[in-house]
Amino acid sequence: MHPTPPPSPLPASANLRPRRLRASPLLRDLLASSRLHPSDFVAPLFVRLGKNIKTPIASMPGQFQFSPDTALTHLRQLADGGLSAFLLFGVTDPHHKDPAGSHAHDETNAVCRTLRAAKDAGLPLLAITDLCYCEYTSHGHCGPLTATPTVDNDLTVANLGQQAALHARCGADIIAPSAAMDHMVAAIRTGLDAAGFPDTAILSYAVKYASAFYGPFRDAAESPPQAGSGLSDRKTYQMDYRRHPAEALREAALDVAEGADLLMVKPGLPYLDILKAVSDAAPVPTAVYQVSGEYAMLKAAAANGWIDEKETVLETMHAFKRAGAAFILTYYAQQLAAWLR
Ligand code: PBG
Repeated sequence: MHPTPPPSPLPASANLRPRRLRASPLLRDLLASSRLHPSDFVAPLFVRLGKNIKTPIASMPGQFQFSPDTALTHLRQLADGGLSAFLLFGVTDPHHKDPAGSHAHDETNAVCRTLRAAKDAGLPLLAITDLCYCEYTSHGHCGPLTATPTVDNDLTVANLGQQAALHARCGADIIAPSAAMDHMVAAIRTGLDAAGFPDTAILSYAVKYASAFYGPFRDAAESPPQAGSGLSDRKTYQMDYRRHPAEALREAALDVAEGADLLMVKPGLPYLDILKAVSDAAPVPTAVYQVSGEYAMLKAAAANGWIDEKETVLETMHAFKRAGAAFILTYYAQQLAAWLR
């Protein structure tokens, strides 16, 4: 007599085994649907006037404030590393700041000098400029203030049109307005076209939330909103993350209608739902910005040995690609290019 076998724990569909396709690295690589390449990444860079400056940014390990000369050296390294684009931020000395942010219009400022240096050197890199006023205003807001106080929307966008034309004249290929003003894209398009730059593209920070994840950036750019201005945060112009994602689609649609060539969602990882919704709906490519606070968190955890930095960063980048990012602005850009080589 044979004992009756125990009932099988497997269902009738036991021949369906998803693990089959995970069995080897070759098979896993064959089936990867998101892939990373150095040309997926844009490296943000902080520049200030001076010479031979390379000041580490405490809350962003591995990131620096450069002067135009050291920035050029760094840009050469980015190009040699296989990157194809950089994003410039100006850091302004206090004596050049005023309530209107007029140093933004000075052709001798750090952004203009760095753009010219990169152009003269013929670097094979796309030059993207962050277009805003917070780095230039004494109160740290993204444009001049009204008596209310709030940022004067229509004056700011008119100014942005002028500043965009200056960046284009100095060699910017793409203008990336981050001021979160209504109709900024239309004003910039008008400003660029009037100045003879119909081919300079606009990458709009169309979907930009008022986020605590920008904290380290404000150290890096020395541009926090000043409490003494009567307006201690950017919540009257940057988006409220508690709103329905439909607001993100509306902001994206308005910017596309005004002529944005490219859109951006910012921050990144906490907003993957928004990135997915916008990139699915938008008729133009949608980028994502992994912001300073996201970078700082990864760096801090890695420095403590709590996470594997490379594996965690790569996983994050794949998440952005899966959610539809056309490209990624990240302080890890140079490191990623090296990891991927
Ligand atoms: C300027 C600007 C900011 C960032 C990009 N452009 C700061 C802000 O809006 O307060 C944040 C980037 C980062 O945190 O890495 N308006």
